[in-house]
Amino acid sequence: MNTRRKFLQHTLWGGLAAGSASFWERIVPNIDLLNADVLPVVIATWGPNTKATAAAWEVLSKGGRALDAVEAGARVPEADPEDSSVGYGGLPDRDGNVTLDACIMDEFGNAGSVNFLQHIMHPISVARRVMEKTPHVMLSGEGALQFALQEGFKKENLLTDSARQAWEAWKVKSEYKPVINIERHDTIGMVALDKQRRIAGACTTSGLAFKMHGRVGDSPIIGAGMFVDNEVGGAAATGLGELVLRTLGSFLVVEEMRRGAHPQKAVETAVKRIARKHASLVKDAQVGFVAIDKKGRHGAFSIHKGFNYVLYQQGENKVMEAGHLLRG
Ligand code: GLY
Repeated sequence: MNTRRKFLQHTLWGGLAAGSASFWERIVPNIDLLNADVLPVVIATWGPNTKATAAAWEVLSKGGRALDAVEAGARVPEADPEDSSVGYGGLPDRDGNVTLDACIMDEFGNAGSVNFLQHIMHPISVARRVMEKTPHVMLSGEGALQFALQEGFKKENLLTDSARQAWEAWKVKSEYKPVINIERHDTIGMVALDKQRRIAGACTTSGLAFKMHGRVGDSPIIGAGMFVDNEVGGAAATGLGELVLRTLGSFLVVEEMRRGAHPQKAVETAVKRIARKHASLVKDAQVGFVAIDKKGRHGAFSIHKGFNYVLYQQGENKVMEAGHLLRG
Protein backbone atom coordinates (compact mmCIF):
# COMPACT_ATOMS: atom_id res chain seq x y z
CA MET A 1 0.00 0.00 0.00
CA ASN A 2 1.52 3.35 -0.94
CA THR A 3 2.06 6.09 1.66
CA ARG A 4 -0.81 8.20 0.42
CA ARG A 5 -3.28 5.33 0.64
CA LYS A 6 -2.02 4.39 4.05
CA PHE A 7 -2.52 7.97 5.25
CA LEU A 8 -6.03 8.11 3.88
CA GLN A 9 -6.93 4.85 5.52
CA HIS A 10 -5.36 5.96 8.76
CA THR A 11 -7.47 9.10 8.90
CA LEU A 12 -10.83 7.66 8.00
CA TRP A 13 -13.44 7.35 10.70
CA GLY A 14 -17.19 7.07 10.94
CA GLY A 15 -19.76 8.57 13.29
CA LEU A 16 -20.39 12.23 12.65
CA ALA A 17 -17.94 12.42 9.77
CA ALA A 18 -18.74 11.39 6.26
CA GLY A 19 -16.40 8.45 6.14
CA SER A 20 -15.68 7.93 2.46
CA ALA A 21 -12.27 8.20 0.83
CA SER A 22 -13.55 10.64 -1.77
CA PHE A 23 -14.91 12.96 0.92
CA TRP A 24 -11.65 12.78 2.75
CA GLU A 25 -9.52 13.45 -0.32
CA ARG A 26 -11.52 16.59 -0.93
CA ILE A 27 -10.85 18.03 2.50
CA VAL A 28 -7.19 17.08 2.92
CA PRO A 29 -5.89 18.18 -0.46
CA ASN A 30 -2.13 18.08 -0.15
CA ILE A 31 -0.58 15.24 1.77
CA ASP A 32 2.94 16.17 0.66
CA LEU A 33 2.63 19.62 2.18
CA LEU A 34 1.23 18.18 5.41
CA ASN A 35 4.32 16.02 5.60
CA ALA A 36 7.00 18.53 4.64
CA ASP A 37 9.96 18.18 6.98
CA VAL A 38 11.52 21.55 6.24
CA LEU A 39 12.54 24.14 8.80
CA PRO A 40 11.72 26.78 9.74
CA VAL A 41 7.94 26.70 9.67
CA VAL A 42 5.13 28.75 11.17
CA ILE A 43 1.40 28.05 11.16
CA ALA A 44 -1.44 30.38 12.14
CA THR A 45 -5.20 30.12 12.35
CA TRP A 46 -7.25 31.92 9.65
CA GLY A 47 -6.38 32.99 6.13
CA PRO A 48 -6.29 36.75 6.71
CA ASN A 49 -3.29 36.28 9.01
CA THR A 50 -0.71 36.18 6.20
CA LYS A 51 0.89 39.40 7.49
CA ALA A 52 1.26 37.79 10.89
CA THR A 53 3.01 34.73 9.47
CA ALA A 54 5.17 37.03 7.34
CA ALA A 55 6.27 38.91 10.47
CA ALA A 56 7.08 35.58 12.13
CA TRP A 57 8.93 34.40 9.01
CA GLU A 58 11.04 37.56 9.07
CA VAL A 59 12.43 36.37 12.42
CA LEU A 60 12.63 32.67 11.53
CA SER A 61 14.30 33.06 8.15
CA LYS A 62 17.17 34.95 9.77
CA GLY A 63 17.77 32.10 12.21
CA GLY A 64 15.81 33.79 15.00
CA ARG A 65 14.07 32.17 17.93
CA ALA A 66 10.58 30.68 17.55
CA LEU A 67 9.45 32.63 20.63
CA ASP A 68 10.38 35.97 19.03
CA ALA A 69 8.68 34.87 15.83
CA VAL A 70 5.31 34.05 17.39
CA GLU A 71 5.32 37.23 19.45
CA ALA A 72 6.09 39.33 16.35
CA GLY A 73 3.38 37.51 14.43
CA ALA A 74 0.69 37.88 17.08
CA ARG A 75 1.35 41.61 17.39
CA VAL A 76 0.23 42.16 13.79
CA PRO A 77 -3.52 41.50 14.20
CA GLU A 78 -3.37 42.98 17.71
CA ALA A 79 -2.53 46.36 16.19
CA ASP A 80 -4.89 46.05 13.20
CA PRO A 81 -8.11 48.07 13.70
CA GLU A 82 -9.74 46.10 10.87
CA ASP A 83 -9.38 42.83 12.74
CA SER A 84 -12.48 42.63 14.93
CA SER A 85 -11.43 39.52 16.86
CA VAL A 86 -8.05 40.50 18.25
CA GLY A 87 -6.59 43.49 20.14
CA TYR A 88 -7.29 47.01 18.88
CA GLY A 89 -10.57 46.98 16.94
CA GLY A 90 -11.78 43.83 18.70
CA LEU A 91 -15.52 43.61 19.30
CA PRO A 92 -16.40 44.50 22.89
CA ASP A 93 -18.32 42.61 25.54
CA ARG A 94 -22.04 43.23 25.98
CA ASP A 95 -21.30 46.30 28.12
CA GLY A 96 -19.01 47.89 25.52
CA ASN A 97 -15.62 46.98 27.05
CA VAL A 98 -12.83 45.50 24.91
CA THR A 99 -11.29 42.79 27.09
CA LEU A 100 -8.33 40.78 25.85
CA ASP A 101 -6.86 37.33 26.49
CA ALA A 102 -3.45 36.02 25.37
CA CYS A 103 -0.82 33.41 26.16
CA ILE A 104 2.65 32.44 25.04
CA MET A 105 5.00 29.46 25.58
CA ASP A 106 8.66 28.92 24.83
CA GLU A 107 10.84 25.90 24.07
CA PHE A 108 11.65 25.37 27.75
CA GLY A 109 8.02 24.91 28.72
CA ASN A 110 7.85 28.38 30.26
CA ALA A 111 4.46 30.02 29.91
CA GLY A 112 2.91 33.45 30.37
CA SER A 113 -0.66 34.59 30.12
CA VAL A 114 -3.00 37.52 30.64
CA ASN A 115 -6.75 37.46 30.71
CA PHE A 116 -9.54 40.02 31.03
CA LEU A 117 -6.96 42.70 30.24
CA GLN A 118 -8.25 46.09 29.10
CA HIS A 119 -6.67 49.13 27.43
CA ILE A 120 -3.41 47.49 26.29
CA MET A 121 -2.91 46.95 22.58
CA HIS A 122 -0.40 44.10 22.82
CA PRO A 123 -1.53 41.51 25.37
CA ILE A 124 0.83 38.94 23.82
CA SER A 125 3.83 41.06 24.84
CA VAL A 126 2.42 41.52 28.33
CA ALA A 127 2.00 37.72 28.52
CA ARG A 128 5.65 37.33 27.54
CA ARG A 129 6.69 39.74 30.30
CA VAL A 130 4.60 37.75 32.81
CA MET A 131 6.52 34.65 31.68
CA GLU A 132 9.93 36.28 31.79
CA LYS A 133 9.69 38.78 34.63
CA THR A 134 7.37 37.30 37.24
CA PRO A 135 7.25 34.06 39.21
CA HIS A 136 3.71 33.51 37.86
CA VAL A 137 2.09 32.15 34.73
CA MET A 138 -1.11 34.18 34.59
CA LEU A 139 -2.21 37.69 35.54
CA SER A 140 -5.81 38.77 35.32
CA GLY A 141 -7.87 41.96 34.94
CA GLU A 142 -6.77 44.94 37.03
CA GLY A 143 -3.61 43.15 38.16
CA ALA A 144 -2.60 42.42 34.58
CA LEU A 145 -3.23 46.06 33.65
CA GLN A 146 -1.23 47.31 36.63
CA PHE A 147 1.69 45.07 35.66
CA ALA A 148 1.51 46.17 32.01
CA LEU A 149 1.61 49.84 33.01
CA GLN A 150 4.55 49.19 35.36
CA GLU A 151 6.32 47.57 32.43
CA GLY A 152 5.84 50.69 30.32
CA PHE A 153 2.90 49.63 28.14
CA LYS A 154 0.61 52.52 27.17
CA LYS A 155 -3.02 52.75 28.28
CA GLU A 156 -5.19 53.21 25.18
CA ASN A 157 -8.79 53.20 24.03
CA LEU A 158 -9.12 50.00 21.99
CA LEU A 159 -12.77 50.44 20.98
CA THR A 160 -12.81 51.65 17.37
CA ASP A 161 -15.77 53.46 15.81
CA SER A 162 -16.70 50.43 13.74
CA ALA A 163 -16.55 48.10 16.76
CA ARG A 164 -18.71 50.56 18.69
CA GLN A 165 -21.23 50.66 15.81
CA ALA A 166 -21.34 46.85 15.68
CA TRP A 167 -22.00 46.80 19.42
CA GLU A 168 -24.78 49.42 19.09
CA ALA A 169 -26.36 47.29 16.34
CA TRP A 170 -26.04 44.12 18.46
CA LYS A 171 -27.75 45.83 21.41
CA VAL A 172 -30.98 46.22 19.42
CA LYS A 173 -31.68 42.50 19.84
CA SER A 174 -28.93 41.58 22.32
CA GLU A 175 -28.95 38.02 20.97
CA TYR A 176 -26.35 35.94 22.70
CA LYS A 177 -25.20 33.40 20.17
CA PRO A 178 -21.90 32.47 18.56
CA VAL A 179 -21.40 33.12 14.84
CA ILE A 180 -19.64 30.35 12.89
CA ASN A 181 -16.59 31.53 10.92
CA ILE A 182 -17.31 35.18 11.70
CA GLU A 183 -15.76 37.03 8.71
CA ARG A 184 -13.45 34.02 8.34
CA HIS A 185 -11.18 35.17 11.07
CA ASP A 186 -11.18 34.90 14.81
CA THR A 187 -8.59 34.29 17.49
CA ILE A 188 -5.07 34.00 16.12
CA GLY A 189 -3.16 30.98 17.36
CA MET A 190 0.37 30.43 16.07
CA VAL A 191 3.01 27.76 16.42
CA ALA A 192 6.55 28.10 15.06
CA LEU A 193 9.52 25.76 14.75
CA ASP A 194 12.78 27.56 14.15
CA LYS A 195 15.97 26.46 12.37
CA GLN A 196 17.32 25.03 15.62
CA ARG A 197 14.09 23.04 16.01
CA ARG A 198 12.97 25.14 18.99
CA ILE A 199 9.21 25.36 19.24
CA ALA A 200 7.01 28.18 20.59
CA GLY A 201 3.37 29.18 20.48
CA ALA A 202 1.18 32.23 20.96
CA CYS A 203 -2.53 32.89 21.08
CA THR A 204 -4.32 36.25 21.33
CA THR A 205 -7.94 37.36 21.09
CA SER A 206 -10.62 39.82 22.10
CA GLY A 207 -12.77 36.77 22.76
CA LEU A 208 -16.34 36.05 21.92
CA ALA A 209 -18.09 39.17 20.60
CA PHE A 210 -20.61 40.69 23.03
CA LYS A 211 -19.73 38.18 25.74
CA MET A 212 -20.71 38.70 29.38
CA HIS A 213 -18.43 41.14 31.19
CA GLY A 214 -15.68 39.11 32.85
CA ARG A 215 -15.98 36.13 30.51
CA VAL A 216 -12.63 34.51 29.74
CA GLY A 217 -12.28 32.00 26.93
CA ASP A 218 -9.75 29.34 26.03
CA SER A 219 -7.12 31.60 24.51
CA PRO A 220 -5.17 32.56 27.67
CA ILE A 221 -5.44 29.09 29.20
CA ILE A 222 -2.27 27.08 28.73
CA GLY A 223 -3.30 23.74 27.26
CA ALA A 224 -6.66 25.00 25.99
CA GLY A 225 -6.00 27.85 23.53
CA MET A 226 -2.39 26.83 22.96
CA PHE A 227 0.20 24.35 24.14
CA VAL A 228 3.72 23.46 23.09
CA ASP A 229 6.15 20.82 24.26
CA ASN A 230 9.60 21.04 22.77
CA GLU A 231 9.94 17.25 22.71
CA VAL A 232 6.78 16.83 20.67
CA GLY A 233 5.25 19.84 18.90
CA GLY A 234 2.62 22.47 19.45
CA ALA A 235 -1.03 23.27 18.82
CA ALA A 236 -3.38 26.25 18.95
CA ALA A 237 -7.13 26.66 18.85
CA THR A 238 -9.68 29.10 17.53
CA GLY A 239 -13.45 29.28 17.75
CA LEU A 240 -15.88 28.93 20.63
CA GLY A 241 -13.63 28.89 23.69
CA GLU A 242 -16.13 27.16 25.95
CA LEU A 243 -15.82 23.99 23.86
CA VAL A 244 -12.02 24.13 23.84
CA LEU A 245 -11.87 24.79 27.59
CA ARG A 246 -14.02 21.77 28.36
CA THR A 247 -11.68 19.46 26.46
CA LEU A 248 -8.27 21.16 26.95
CA GLY A 249 -8.01 20.93 23.18
CA SER A 250 -4.45 22.06 22.46
CA PHE A 251 -3.02 19.87 25.20
CA LEU A 252 -4.97 16.95 23.81
CA VAL A 253 -3.50 17.55 20.34
CA VAL A 254 0.06 17.62 21.69
CA GLU A 255 -0.51 14.50 23.77
CA GLU A 256 -1.85 12.69 20.71
CA MET A 257 1.32 13.67 18.83
CA ARG A 258 3.37 12.44 21.81
CA ARG A 259 1.67 9.06 21.35
CA GLY A 260 2.93 9.06 17.77
CA ALA A 261 -0.01 10.56 15.88
CA HIS A 262 0.62 12.66 12.80
CA PRO A 263 -0.40 16.31 13.51
CA GLN A 264 -3.34 15.93 11.11
CA LYS A 265 -4.61 12.89 12.95
CA ALA A 266 -4.05 14.63 16.30
CA VAL A 267 -6.17 17.68 15.40
CA GLU A 268 -8.90 15.40 14.07
CA THR A 269 -8.95 13.56 17.39
CA ALA A 270 -9.41 16.81 19.32
CA VAL A 271 -12.28 17.99 17.09
CA LYS A 272 -13.89 14.57 17.26
CA ARG A 273 -13.61 14.60 21.06
CA ILE A 274 -15.46 17.93 21.20
CA ALA A 275 -18.15 16.63 18.86
CA ARG A 276 -18.62 13.45 20.85
CA LYS A 277 -18.70 15.09 24.28
CA HIS A 278 -20.76 18.12 23.30
CA ALA A 279 -22.86 16.89 20.41
CA SER A 280 -25.77 19.26 21.18
CA LEU A 281 -23.51 22.34 20.92
CA VAL A 282 -21.38 21.67 17.85
CA LYS A 283 -24.16 22.28 15.31
CA ASP A 284 -23.98 26.02 16.00
CA ALA A 285 -20.34 26.42 17.01
CA GLN A 286 -17.02 26.39 15.22
CA VAL A 287 -13.71 25.22 16.66
CA GLY A 288 -10.52 24.79 14.66
CA PHE A 289 -7.04 23.58 15.56
CA VAL A 290 -3.64 23.94 13.93
CA ALA A 291 -0.60 21.89 14.91
CA ILE A 292 3.04 21.32 14.04
CA ASP A 293 5.22 18.47 15.22
CA LYS A 294 8.98 18.44 15.83
CA LYS A 295 9.50 17.10 12.32
CA GLY A 296 7.91 20.21 10.80
CA ARG A 297 4.81 18.33 9.66
CA HIS A 298 1.49 20.03 10.24
CA GLY A 299 -2.25 19.52 10.54
CA ALA A 300 -5.43 21.61 10.66
CA PHE A 301 -9.03 20.62 11.24
CA SER A 302 -12.34 22.12 12.35
CA ILE A 303 -15.90 21.19 13.20
CA HIS A 304 -17.47 23.05 10.28
CA LYS A 305 -16.38 23.86 6.77
CA GLY A 306 -14.82 27.29 6.35
CA PHE A 307 -11.82 27.21 8.65
CA ASN A 308 -8.61 28.11 6.88
CA TYR A 309 -5.07 28.68 8.05
CA VAL A 310 -1.73 30.06 6.94
CA LEU A 311 1.42 28.01 6.58
CA TYR A 312 4.77 29.70 5.94
CA GLN A 313 7.29 27.04 4.96
CA GLN A 314 9.96 26.71 2.26
CA GLY A 315 9.72 30.47 1.63
CA GLU A 316 6.03 30.31 0.71
CA ASN A 317 3.22 31.96 2.66
CA LYS A 318 0.19 29.85 1.79
CA VAL A 319 -3.45 30.08 2.81
CA MET A 320 -4.92 26.58 3.01
CA GLU A 321 -8.36 25.16 3.67
CA ALA A 322 -8.56 22.93 6.71
CA GLY A 323 -10.38 19.65 6.76
CA HIS A 324 -13.67 19.59 8.63
CA LEU A 325 -15.86 17.17 10.51
CA LEU A 326 -19.46 17.93 9.68
CA ARG A 327 -21.12 18.01 6.32
CA GLY A 328 -23.16 21.01 5.28
N1 GLY B 1 -11.38 31.28 21.17
C1 GLY B 1 -11.59 32.55 21.66
C2 GLY B 1 -12.62 32.67 22.67
O1 GLY B 1 -13.54 31.87 22.73
O2 GLY B 1 -12.55 33.59 23.45
